Amino acid sequence: MTKEDINQVRERIEILRREIDRHNYRYHVLDQPEISDAEFDELLRELQQLEEKYPQLQDPDSPTRRVGGEPLASFETLEHKVPMLGLDNAFSEEDLIDFADRVKRLSGLEELDYFCELKIDGLAVSLQYEEGLFKRGSTRGDGYSGEDITRNLRTIRQIPLKLPEEVSLEVRGEVYINKKDFEKLNRRREEEGLMVFANPRNAAAGSVRQLDPRLAAKRPLKLFLYGLGQHNLNLSTQEELLGYLDKMKLPVNPNRTICRGIDEVRDYVRIWQDKKLELPYEIDGVVVKVNNLALQQELGFTARSPRWAIAYKYPPEEKVTRVLDIEVNIGRTGTITPVALLEPVTLSGTTVRRASLHNEDLIIDKGILIGDSVVVHKAGEIIPEVLKVVEDKRSGTEKEFRMPANCPSCGSEAIRLSGEAARRCLNPSCPAQLVEKLVHFASRRAMDIEGLGPAVAEMLYNHDLVRDVGDLYYLNTEDLISLPRMAEKSAENLINALEKSKDNPLRRLLFGLGIRFVGEKAARLLAERFETMDRLSEASQEELTEIDEIGPKIGEAVEQFFKTDETDPVLEKLRKAGVNFTEPKLQAASNVFEGKTFVFSGALNDYTRDQAKALVEERGGQVSSSVSKKTDYLVAGDDPGSKLDKAEKLGVEVIDEAQFNVLVS
Ligand code: IVH
Repeated sequence: MTKEDINQVRERIEILRREIDRHNYRYHVLDQPEISDAEFDELLRELQQLEEKYPQLQDPDSPTRRVGGEPLASFETLEHKVPMLGLDNAFSEEDLIDFADRVKRLSGLEELDYFCELKIDGLAVSLQYEEGLFKRGSTRGDGYSGEDITRNLRTIRQIPLKLPEEVSLEVRGEVYINKKDFEKLNRRREEEGLMVFANPRNAAAGSVRQLDPRLAAKRPLKLFLYGLGQHNLNLSTQEELLGYLDKMKLPVNPNRTICRGIDEVRDYVRIWQDKKLELPYEIDGVVVKVNNLALQQELGFTARSPRWAIAYKYPPEEKVTRVLDIEVNIGRTGTITPVALLEPVTLSGTTVRRASLHNEDLIIDKGILIGDSVVVHKAGEIIPEVLKVVEDKRSGTEKEFRMPANCPSCGSEAIRLSGEAARRCLNPSCPAQLVEKLVHFASRRAMDIEGLGPAVAEMLYNHDLVRDVGDLYYLNTEDLISLPRMAEKSAENLINALEKSKDNPLRRLLFGLGIRFVGEKAARLLAERFETMDRLSEASQEELTEIDEIGPKIGEAVEQFFKTDETDPVLEKLRKAGVNFTEPKLQAASNVFEGKTFVFSGALNDYTRDQAKALVEERGGQVSSSVSKKTDYLVAGDDPGSKLDKAEKLGVEVIDEAQFNVLVS
């Protein structure tokens, strides 16, 4: 290879790296992708191949090198050259005024500007860039030194490995996890028998402190940056500082404002008191900073915190209520979960009556007794949770709760498998599990059988009408009318809903069958690849795991499902009843979207951007990256950002993912 040739390759590699960085930024920071996921993957693949072929051109800061390395035994310590201090808190408007009075007194100024930012409820981190390259990052630790979490931070796509300018600086911010991602993460962990995280902040902290960077890469970590450590920039205000970080393509929270005087600060704080519930992430307050950086320096620090800033903390939505009883719930996979029955309380606008206690260890750790007064809140502002016991309120009549040694439904031993926090009932014919399986099968995202909720499912089981999901399709109106409180009309409706559900595509059936670890996404991937139940049932482990995103755990579960003795008879019943066992070919879709333009904003649960785009294009529609008057639909996923505002302003029809699913099905 000649020198010219290698120079050409070098040039191509540089172009690819720049392009990949640019698209990464557009997707993860701006939420304005310009190209499809497939096009992005193609760029990355080309770069990977070139770097493999020409090892002399490899670079540790290449976008191909985000995730990697062996798990660590422990983290190294990194010193903070500029200490990472905390903030003083204000818990009331009076505290805010006191703060402003102090600033006025110390500065001798009557009127001054404050800069207000949201106080993200996550984990403080520091990132060091040297000559524009991301070199290392750490946790706050004790404020003077923290843990070196560089390899985990590199996996966060919002963090640029290279800045647009060759500057050396230390930036500080908060790593967090979105409320919905937290919920999803915990749901998966509960299903897998792992310990659940108490709130998004703990989930973020646990993830960023993972010793295996490959595991950290799978956690939905995000961050916002809001300040500087060591640097030699010449900036005059906090407002300018954040603008500069924006310019450096670092993620900065768009909800920030300058306030002329403390009255405007008070108004801002009042606005976010309610508005905070609409955010996709949790905040616990507003940080108020003196805007002028020279003045900040003049005011300086106390031993613990700066005199130029204060954190206005919203009172956490917490209430005291009583644990009336603790009952156990048996999931469709046999997981036995203790649930606290609470004296009803209102939290963030809804009435809370129950809170999962997850597992026996948690009850022991928190020392919860039946009859205890407890503090409850909503984790991630969604999920009711018992925080702690108010021991002072004990009367001595409280009773200890014991996890049953046997399944309360079928009596078989409740076994705690090694490495799992939960107990399980392993009896596949356990009535409670069967009822839960029926409910899951009928649920909206599975076979969507209206009228088959928990109460009806339980009756069907108790009256010996249904033993498994196959039996559902042999019910007739007379059977149903014989059930207590079942009117003729409801019975007919249910029979019609069952009939209709027979035509569902294979992916819904697969999801509905409740194969372990096979969620909606895996079900769709399997159905699309194998197209029929028969082909899927014969697939080997290797064939199954050939699909991207289907790992050995799912592969094994699928194989096991088709091998289990109980499976065949159920599938036979379904087949004989005429339930569809095939997945319609995507190409067969008609041109229903002819002339229609779609814009996607925010993360979708079921599809990558690329898959969603393919669905639209296969139906003759178009996908655009920005909203205009010509847009027919804006599909708003999680955290939809500014495109949603624009769509609303232009009167473009906004639909959510579920509505999009209806349109494409
Ligand atoms: S400024 C010198 N701005 O709140 C202190 N902090 O109790 C500079 N936090 O440790 C901190 N959002 O982890 C600042 N917009 C924001 C913030 C923020 C969240 C956290 C940060 C800090 C803690 C203070």
